[in-house]
Amino acid sequence: MHFLQEFTKSRSHKIVILISSIILIIYLIVSFALVSRFNSKLPHYSSSLHHISHLEDISSATSLDHIVFGIASNKVSWNSRKEFIRLWWKPKQMRGCVFLDYNTTLLDQDNQHDLLPPLCTSADTTGFLYTYRGGLRSAIRVARIVSETVALNHTDVRWFVFADDDTVFFPENLVKVLSKYDHELWYYIGSNSESFSQNTFFSFDMAYGGAGFAISYPLAKVLAKTFDSCIDRYSYLYGSDGRISSCLAELGVSLTKEPGFHQVDMKGDMFGLLAAHPLAPLISLHHLDIVNPIFPYIESPVKALEHLYEAAKHDPHRIIQQTVCYDMYFSWTVSISWGYAVQVYARHVPLPYLLRAQKTFKPFKRGKRMNNNFNIDMREYESDRCRRAVVFYMDRVSSEKDEIQSVYRNSILRSRSKKLLHANCSRIPASPLDLEEIRVFSNKFELNVKQLLAPRRQCCDVLPVTNSEVMEISLRECKVEELIYMHL
Ligand SMILES: *[C@@H]1O[C@H](CO)[C@@H](O)[C@H](O)[C@H]1NC(C)=O
Ligand SMILES: *[C@@H]1O[C@H](CO)[C@@H](O)[C@H](O)[C@H]1NC(C)=O
Ligand SMILES: *[C@@H]1O[C@H](CO)[C@@H](O)[C@H](O)[C@H]1NC(C)=O
Repeated sequence: MHFLQEFTKSRSHKIVILISSIILIIYLIVSFALVSRFNSKLPHYSSSLHHISHLEDISSATSLDHIVFGIASNKVSWNSRKEFIRLWWKPKQMRGCVFLDYNTTLLDQDNQHDLLPPLCTSADTTGFLYTYRGGLRSAIRVARIVSETVALNHTDVRWFVFADDDTVFFPENLVKVLSKYDHELWYYIGSNSESFSQNTFFSFDMAYGGAGFAISYPLAKVLAKTFDSCIDRYSYLYGSDGRISSCLAELGVSLTKEPGFHQVDMKGDMFGLLAAHPLAPLISLHHLDIVNPIFPYIESPVKALEHLYEAAKHDPHRIIQQTVCYDMYFSWTVSISWGYAVQVYARHVPLPYLLRAQKTFKPFKRGKRMNNNFNIDMREYESDRCRRAVVFYMDRVSSEKDEIQSVYRNSILRSRSKKLLHANCSRIPASPLDLEEIRVFSNKFELNVKQLLAPRRQCCDVLPVTNSEVMEISLRECKVEELIYMHL
C-alpha cells in the first residue's frame, strides 16, 4: 500500500516534469522564431564594440605618419600662400599633396628645397555640373581632392586631413585630438564658421574647408567610391565643403565638432578669440592674410605667425591655452593665453567674464546687421580705454628639459602714442602699466587621452618679486578641490 502510493506519486511527478518540459520546449521554439523574425528585418553587421574597448591601445599610437593631407591651392595663390604651409609642414614626417589647377609634371619639384609638400595636378572636372550663379566652378575640383587624395594609395593611413593653402595647423595638437577617436569607425571631424550669417547661409553642421577637417580612413574610402556620382546631385551648391558634407550626409554621417579648428571668418584683430580660446588644443587657423597680423608690432602676417610657432615649438599642447589668476596683494586680475599674450586688469574681473572672447574683431562681410553676430561666446570690447587690460605680448620662450619660461612685454610701453593716451587715465598708486615684462614659468604640458576627454583648466600663482617692473607667474595643475576666484 505504502509502496503503491510512492509509485503513483513518483509517476505523477514524472508526468508533471514531462508536461513542463514540453511547454518549455514549445516556448523556446516560439520565442526563437519570433526573435529571428524580428531580426530578419535588420541586416547583420559585426559589432564595433570590440574596437571601442581597445581605444586606448589603438589611439595611443596614432602619429603624424598615419595622416595623409590634401591641400587645395591654385596657380594664382600658391606662390604667396606656400609661406603659410612652410610654417607647419614637416617634410620628413608628413604625407600628402598640394593640388594645383595646372600641370605640375614639368615643374622642378626639387626647386622647393624639399620643405614643402609634393605638388599634384588636379584631374579635369569639365564633365561635372556647376549651377550656382556667380560662384566658382573650381569648387568641384577642390571637393574632388578628397577622392584624389584617397587615390594616392598611401598605406597605413588612419586619417585624411583636408585644408586650404591659407590654413595653418598645429600638427602635434591635430594628432593628439584625432587620437581621441577610433580611426576604424566613421568620423568626419572639424568645425563650423565663427560667423553666424555664414553658418545660416551655408550650414551650421558642415566642416568649413578653410578650418581644415579630418575624415577617418574607412569613411574616406567609402566616400571616394561614391563621390563622383554624388557631387552631380549637388551642382546647385556654392562651395567644395558643402559638396563634401552633403555626400557624407548621404552616407548617414554628420559632423563631429572640435573647437580647436578655426575658419576665422572675421576681419580686424582676432586677439579676443585667441586670448580666450576654448578649453581645447589649438588645431588650426585660417584667413591670416585677411585679419591683422596676430602680433601687432610684426607687420607681416607670416612673420607674426612664425613668432607664435616659436612658442608652440617649446610646448605645443599649451599654446594659447587660457589660465586665470588673481593677485591678492594689488587686487589685480591676470589672464594668460600661453605663448601669445597676458592681460592684466587693475581690478577684480570675475572669471566667467574673462572666459568670454572680447569682440576685438569685425564682421567678415559688411552689410546686413546679422553679419555682426558671431557663434562665439563673446563680450563687447571695453569702450572705456582706462578700464581695458594692459596687454603683454609674447616676446620670447626658452626651455630647459621640461621647464619652460615664457616672457611677455608691455605693449603700451612699446608705443609712444599709446603711452600718451594712457597718461590721461586716473593713475592708481600701483598700475600694471608700470610693469615692463611678465615671466611665466610652466612645465611642459603633456595631454593624455583622459585629459582630452575630460579637460580641466590649469591654475596659476602670482609669485612675490622685489622688482616692481616685473611680474612672475607659475602655472600648475589645480589641486583637487581648488577654486579659481578672487580671494578678498
Ligand atoms: C602633363 O604634362 C606631361 C608632359 O608634357 C604629360 O605627359 C601629361 O600627360 C600632362 N598631364 C596632365 C594631367 O595633363
Ligand atoms: C591606386 O589603386 C587603384 C586601384 O588599385 C589604381 O587603379 C590606381 O591606379 C592606383 N593609384 C596610384 C596613384 O597608384
Ligand atoms: C587728456 O586730458 C586733457 C584734459 O582733460 C585733454 O585736454 C587732453 O586732450 C587729453 N589727452 C588725450 C590724449 O586724450
